[in-house]
Amino acid sequence: MTCRQPQPGDLEAIELATRDEISALQLQRLQWTLTHSYNNVASFKQKCDSKGVHPSDLKTLTDLAKFPFTTKTDLRDNYPFGLFAVPREQVARVHASSGTTGKSIVVGYTLKDIDHWANLVARSIRAAGGRKGDMVHVAYGYGMFTGGLGAHYGAERLGCTVVPMSGGQTEKQVQQIVDFRPDIIMVTPSYSLVIAEEFERLGIAPQDISLKVGIFGAEPWGEGMRREIEAKLGIDAIDIYGLTEVMGPGVASECIESKDGPVIWEDHFYPEIIDPETGEVLPDGADGELVFTSLTKEAFPVVRYRTRDLTRLLPPTSRAFRRMGKITGRTDDMLIVRGVNMFPTQIEEQILRDKRLSGNYQVLLSRSSHLDDVEVRCEVQRELSGKLTRSEMDAIAKELQHHIKTNIGVSTQVNVMAFDSIPRTLTGKAKRVIDERPKLV
Ligand code: DLL
Repeated sequence: MTCRQPQPGDLEAIELATRDEISALQLQRLQWTLTHSYNNVASFKQKCDSKGVHPSDLKTLTDLAKFPFTTKTDLRDNYPFGLFAVPREQVARVHASSGTTGKSIVVGYTLKDIDHWANLVARSIRAAGGRKGDMVHVAYGYGMFTGGLGAHYGAERLGCTVVPMSGGQTEKQVQQIVDFRPDIIMVTPSYSLVIAEEFERLGIAPQDISLKVGIFGAEPWGEGMRREIEAKLGIDAIDIYGLTEVMGPGVASECIESKDGPVIWEDHFYPEIIDPETGEVLPDGADGELVFTSLTKEAFPVVRYRTRDLTRLLPPTSRAFRRMGKITGRTDDMLIVRGVNMFPTQIEEQILRDKRLSGNYQVLLSRSSHLDDVEVRCEVQRELSGKLTRSEMDAIAKELQHHIKTNIGVSTQVNVMAFDSIPRTLTGKAKRVIDERPKLV
């Protein structure tokens, strides 16, 4: 489709800066972030002290490698507000994302942080071809998830008309797109295909759909899916990346004129790629784990946050900043199901709440149409085996399904089976997850 190339004057000066200018800004902002974290976050000071480093040791960008990493465990251990670097009263908003078990991880934003975030999402929408006056249909979930409100504030900041639809209610989504005629949709790539199918069902052809651009993220998607979405909705499909711990959507975002991987907004986030085994910093182009240090965040600064996302850094093309490649996998067992992050241990926790169930279970992921399907297989305890009727077992399944939905936010099909139905692993780790979703192409 390729419409809406950037015109002279569209971009911010920093998007066209030289590498030296960007590095100088990053160094100054890194020094600020390290000092701010050291002075205000007790656990960060402790980690620096035990490593024998002090913010004043950062003289060049490469000195950052001397500083300790931050991991999801640090966030969990300091639940809920232990890593905030400003008094709680100065936190204007919190968001959350799932942790490995029960407790989620919580992040905070000052008004200034929200202002920066809105600017960066506005910049991302502009990179995707959006302009002031466009109408943006936001179908990312609103609430503790960063997708909905993050997209919303950014679209408003750019001067767009926002339709805060949130996720679900496919028929209503489509009716609203038909009636309101938005230019842009922001949604997970998998849900966009469900929307596309509803258009197909109604007999509305791609060229008759008002949408021109879609801005998709929150889950991995490949070039094959890009082609499919573009053909079915008659739009340009653009990739936006982000994570709760670092900000939310808009840490990096793709440009419509090149569609060659999300540009990292390096004036606000300093990226590194490390070897996930050794923690050693790798050169640009090498595959490894993506690590971010925030450069401007007040309430929840992160230093060397290990995202667990595997990718590589690519040279600048359409903007002065470096890009990231597609996310090829993760170093932990986090699953992303219809855009919702989930750990197998969270399912385990819900199963173990029911004393009638054995702790043996399996999670099967598949994709029947465009959305992920999740089947949870579990078993009754040995002493109950053969004693329960099928309808009693179905009732247990229904209960568990409800607990998983309300606690984790994912709809599943639960199947309660007789004891010993699920194969045991006699050596090594139990194979809890069978992922039969098609590989990304
Ligand atoms: O998914 C934030 C977001 C909302 C990004 C809307 C883009 C659009 P979390 O729920 O914390 O935050 O999940 C973050 O999702 O570490 C990646 O593994 C994955 N992810 C996010 N965007 C992409 C993308 C939001 N464009 C986790 N491609 C990250 C691949 C993505 N994976």
